[in-house]
Amino acid sequence: MNKPLTNKRVLLGVSAGIAAYKSPDLVRKLSELGAEVEVILTKNADQFVAPLALQAVSGRPVHNYAMTAESESGMGHIDLARWADIVLVAPATANVIARLCQGNADELLTTVCVATEVPIAIAPAMNQQMWQNSATRSNIKLLSDRDVLILGPDSGEQACGEVGPGRMLQPEDIARQVASHFSTGKLAGRRVMITAGPTWEAIDPVRGITNHSSGLMGYALAQAAYEAGAEVTLISGPTDLTPPERVNTINVVSALDMHQAVFDDIESQDIFIGVAAVADYRPASSAEQKIKKNADEMSIRMVKNPDILADVACYSKRPFCVGFAAETNDVVNYARGKLERKNLDLIAANHVGGTDTGFGTPDNAITLISSDTVTELPKQNKFALARNLVAEITKHFQTTNQ
Ligand code: C5P
Repeated sequence: MNKPLTNKRVLLGVSAGIAAYKSPDLVRKLSELGAEVEVILTKNADQFVAPLALQAVSGRPVHNYAMTAESESGMGHIDLARWADIVLVAPATANVIARLCQGNADELLTTVCVATEVPIAIAPAMNQQMWQNSATRSNIKLLSDRDVLILGPDSGEQACGEVGPGRMLQPEDIARQVASHFSTGKLAGRRVMITAGPTWEAIDPVRGITNHSSGLMGYALAQAAYEAGAEVTLISGPTDLTPPERVNTINVVSALDMHQAVFDDIESQDIFIGVAAVADYRPASSAEQKIKKNADEMSIRMVKNPDILADVACYSKRPFCVGFAAETNDVVNYARGKLERKNLDLIAANHVGGTDTGFGTPDNAITLISSDTVTELPKQNKFALARNLVAEITKHFQTTNQ
């Protein structure tokens, strides 16, 4: 089953309306699509649904409305706001909708809604007269103008016996609409390994040979692959970057360390993306003590490092292999040569040196080359580029794995 909510965290706010009795089913439907779900009840919502039922289906403790020292010592309102990829209020009563409009922070759910930077979706549920009331109409418009996603409501027979608009959408429809908001999940169930950053080849305990790779492109790709649903392993040389939060990051120093870390787990991977700027050579030996500057000249004998990407691509149980080629001239031709020489499925070529793209810059432009296609990804922020690149890599991967 396709799980479009893989790696997505849904913070479900349940407010005090009769439709709350459907929330355990909603939690199940979201989980079936791959989401992790954490529930917050508003005041009195527990009159309509048992917290224990929600705890059982979500597999997590349920938060009630109160913000006490005790509740804040666990996952407090700021942690919850940061934890989520989306806040979904379902059912959203007329009362909670009005409070969201005002930016009230009078209980846990409303406070999280004010504190969060992630999208908020609401599934209104109320009596048809209340839904058609002009205050509710303008509240909904206001929330919609603030980019709150309004899911439903449905029309039909209501719990109070009346007929009209205001019924909460069915849990299945809500879950599907939340999933379509992300439109990811294409790499759900897949494992992606990415190398990133420079390597450091020691000359002695304090000196070494390295390069200007910031690691930004590899880290952005790791984040993008995670967002697309993959289980990601990022093998990183020394960088100043903070690893993406939900990615398994392994820090290494030298090319040999990186090679070892890659081959420790290569067999379980579906896709390998070599972004690291691996040093081609390393000092034949590294001095145990700091080298003193007694001589007027010194030379360092260098030996070749293994080509990690080429070794992966020639491995008998190889994953789908993607390489990077940073070139200063005749970019496409050199990259195509590298694609063939290293036995790759795809190569992402970029122009470095003398321009505002490439090493250490926030933007990048890429030409993605396979044996029979060339795709231009124009200059853009490395995070946007990473998402587009992951989408392209996924397409090629799916074609070869059909
Ligand atoms: O041959 P070149 O260094 O230009 O190839 C670049 C590509 O090969 C990148 O994807 C880089 O991560 C990978 N590479 C590697 N191990 C090396 C050298 C390059 O994985 N020793």
